[in-house]
Amino acid sequence: MSGLPAWSEPRTAIVTGSGSGIGLATGMRLAAEGAAVAVWDIDGDSAKAAAAQITEAGGTAVGLAVDVADRSRIDEALAEVRSLLGPATILVNNAGISPFKRFLDISAEDFARVMAVNLAGTFHCCQAVAPDMIAAGWGRIVNISSSSAQTGNTRQAHYAASKAGVIGLSRSLAQELGPKGITVNIVPPSFIDTPALRGSAEAGFLGSGVESHVQSTPVRRVGRPEDIASACVYLARDEAGFITGQVVGVNGGRVIV
Ligand SMILES: NC(=O)c1ccc[n+]([C@@H]2O[C@H](COP(=O)([O-])OP(=O)(O)OC[C@H]3O[C@@H](n4cnc5c(N)ncnc54)[C@H](O)[C@@H]3O)[C@@H](O)[C@H]2O)c1
Repeated sequence: MSGLPAWSEPRTAIVTGSGSGIGLATGMRLAAEGAAVAVWDIDGDSAKAAAAQITEAGGTAVGLAVDVADRSRIDEALAEVRSLLGPATILVNNAGISPFKRFLDISAEDFARVMAVNLAGTFHCCQAVAPDMIAAGWGRIVNISSSSAQTGNTRQAHYAASKAGVIGLSRSLAQELGPKGITVNIVPPSFIDTPALRGSAEAGFLGSGVESHVQSTPVRRVGRPEDIASACVYLARDEAGFITGQVVGVNGGRVIV
């Protein structure tokens, strides 16, 4: 890093799905850099626990129960964030579900829920928060996709499609919002050690388990939530203002495109 402060003025960040895993690490890092952080998670208890963890570490945070598939709850929670922490000009859309099912077994309901959370949730959070960014003439949006959007993945047709949609959405917003001082970038993780990854391994969806994939990873380790958090925080800094519409792979070299 440059030694510059992350931001020339106080910033408020919303991180969705930040009660756990990658989102929690990202919320912790943004707070450590000085942003006030709104922890949004469908699991209200984990949102509150994460906010308490950030506060105990010296940061400023609030934890709110928000299902990103519910636009009216997004709008309500955004109003709470505005009154408690001020307008949000940093948004990390991280909330996601990553189910595995054979293509022929994916029901219309399975498909709709994955799209509602991963793609429509990202759309709605961006659309709800963008007016405050436009008013500020400054904004940073980081959308968490997945390497499966780049490569495809067996038994994840619905998931990979939703995460590929996040890339198209983000690139379009980068073009439309760029003139307003807002950058929009995409981070597609691969194999990050989180509760979701361990759950997929325990259910037998990851072959011989998480560690068995290390040999096919050029940097020879499993990713950590902090690896993704670092990229998100960099993209949110003032100094990243010339980076927009980019897919920033953080995957230990597992996917090189
Ligand atoms: N871990 C990986 O290897 C990996 C790889 C590629 C992409 N990702 C993506 O990274 C993101 C974070 O994944 P993770 O591994 O940290 O998962 P995780 O399950 O540990 O955390 C996801 C969080 O999102 C919350 N959430 C789920 N549905 C929600 C909803 N409708 N509204 C609000 N919050 C909701 C969960 O309660 C949970 O706290 C996801 O979008 C996931 O698809 C992860």
